[in-house]
Amino acid sequence: MRRSFAARVRGTVLVLLAAAAIMLLCTYVAYTGLPFLYSLLGAEPGPYWKQAVFTAVVFILFIGCVGAISSLMSKRHMLVWDMIQDAMRRIAKGDFTVSIDLPMDEKDRLGTIVSNVNQMAVELGALEKMRQEFISNVSHEIQSPLTSIQGFAKAIKREDLSPEARLRYITIIEAESERLSKISDNLLKLTSLESKHHPFEQVTYRLDKQLRSVVLANEPKWLEKKLDMEVELEPVVCRADRDLMSQVWINLLSNAIKFTPEGGTIRIGLSAREGRARVTVADTGIGLTEEDRQHVFERFYKADKSRTASGGGSGLGLSIVQKIIEMHGGEISVESRPGEGTVFLVELPLETQEPDA
Ligand SMILES: Nc1ncnc2c1ncn2[C@@H]1O[C@H](COP(=O)(O)OP(=O)(O)OP(=O)(O)O)[C@@H](O)[C@H]1O
Ligand SMILES: [Mg+2]
Repeated sequence: MRRSFAARVRGTVLVLLAAAAIMLLCTYVAYTGLPFLYSLLGAEPGPYWKQAVFTAVVFILFIGCVGAISSLMSKRHMLVWDMIQDAMRRIAKGDFTVSIDLPMDEKDRLGTIVSNVNQMAVELGALEKMRQEFISNVSHEIQSPLTSIQGFAKAIKREDLSPEARLRYITIIEAESERLSKISDNLLKLTSLESKHHPFEQVTYRLDKQLRSVVLANEPKWLEKKLDMEVELEPVVCRADRDLMSQVWINLLSNAIKFTPEGGTIRIGLSAREGRARVTVADTGIGLTEEDRQHVFERFYKADKSRTASGGGSGLGLSIVQKIIEMHGGEISVESRPGEGTVFLVELPLETQEPDA
């Protein structure tokens, strides 16, 4: 980091003033001290020698003072460097509570380095906290299906079990295994998306056709719950990673299906305005509270923990959606009220090009 011109001028003026003050002090000491020394020694040198000795003494005093001051300053300097090194060692060992307290007079020169080290410790500490929360969430999510699998596997061993009960237990084990596998799939997907190494191949295609095919592919699910599906799609050409966007619509639609009671309605809309595509996925389902709305995009967040814990997902679907939309330079928002349904709005920047396919 380079110091500003004004700071450099100020520094130079201060050094010159300090040097002049030291020189004055040394001259004064030599001026008053030498006659006293001569009288002590009983010597009376000629004017030429007096001048020569005076100059030599002032010079030696000046060099001595400057040397003493700079060695004192470099000792303080070393002290601060030691503090910085010690902090770095502690950070390397995982102690992120480090905070260097700089002496006032060192703040100018080393202040930036020290505040960077302090900032690094704070940020690493936050990362470490996130890592621990992540591990505890993953363990928790894995634990509940595993406990259920263990319990029902043990129950199946009982010889007096009716064939119907056995079949029911096996079906539960199957569903819980699927849930485990989905958690692992979603975790891998999210980690890969966040690693920045995920393949990202943008092509130009018809967004309305993609939405329609996702709705059709999910038909068995929404028919099973007797949901009304209303689709209003303008023809829109977009440039995006087709597979990733498909994942977005699948996640939003399966949430709408999952959180809407039988007989409800789901509306999928697509329009283009001011160079942006607007996709809405609206349902007449259970809705979200204000508090839930603020957290739904966080990893592992589930509004109703008790209910979804039994048959629901892992709370990763919307984090994946948000990440993908962000990768495309778009935005996602949610409007909802408890009991009145939910609307997810996705906005994507558009490029006016002919579709690749
Ligand atoms: N359409 C919706 N209506 C009401 N609540 C919703 C809706 N979509 C999401 N939510 C709430 O947001 C939470 C997070 O959704 P998300 O899709 O991330 O996780 P999930 O559906 O529980 O699990 P996953 O998608 O990983 O299988 C859900 O658990 C639910 O509480
Ligand atoms: Mg989901």
